[in-house]
Amino acid sequence: MSNVILIGYMGCGKSTIGKRLSYALRKPFLDTDKIIERKENMSISELFEKKGEAYFRDMETACVKELLEENGEYVIAVGGGLVLREENRKLLNELGKVVYLRATPETIYERLKKDDTRPLLKGEDPKGKIQKMMSERAPIYEAAAQIWIDVDNKNFEDIIKEIGDKVL
Ligand code: S3P
Repeated sequence: MSNVILIGYMGCGKSTIGKRLSYALRKPFLDTDKIIERKENMSISELFEKKGEAYFRDMETACVKELLEENGEYVIAVGGGLVLREENRKLLNELGKVVYLRATPETIYERLKKDDTRPLLKGEDPKGKIQKMMSERAPIYEAAAQIWIDVDNKNFEDIIKEIGDKVL
């Protein structure tokens, strides 16, 4: 299947890069968080609060299964935690080419420090939380992807070109 799937830690640029890439590759853009928000008619933060993280994670798996059935050609940004489930990693590999947008914790912190839409970073010491989560997740992202792209200090044009060259 020729979907292109973007994975990586929250704030690594999956949505922004995904939209530009979708234009460049002429494939529609989808974002699993947005699909879930639409289905549930509430924001991810509200969903975590009202139904809990486990419910949200089940919705992520259901969402990937639906995309597999659809047999489409999309650029798909997936929520930062979706690849943590082994089942989802297998499904993503069937769904298309998986691209890991790799960023340093410093870049992520700078991008997210004024953002309040990420329930997992709420509360004390967001910088410490980012560092801890990223070091735990990095090996999982690396193993889940066929293509790795470093995004620090690069402009969008170069990132899109690099992804385009590697996925074609
Ligand atoms: C999460 C990342 C978020 C969203 C939810 C949980 C995570 O998506 O799915 O807040 O566990 O990393 P983004 O990566 O698009 O921010």
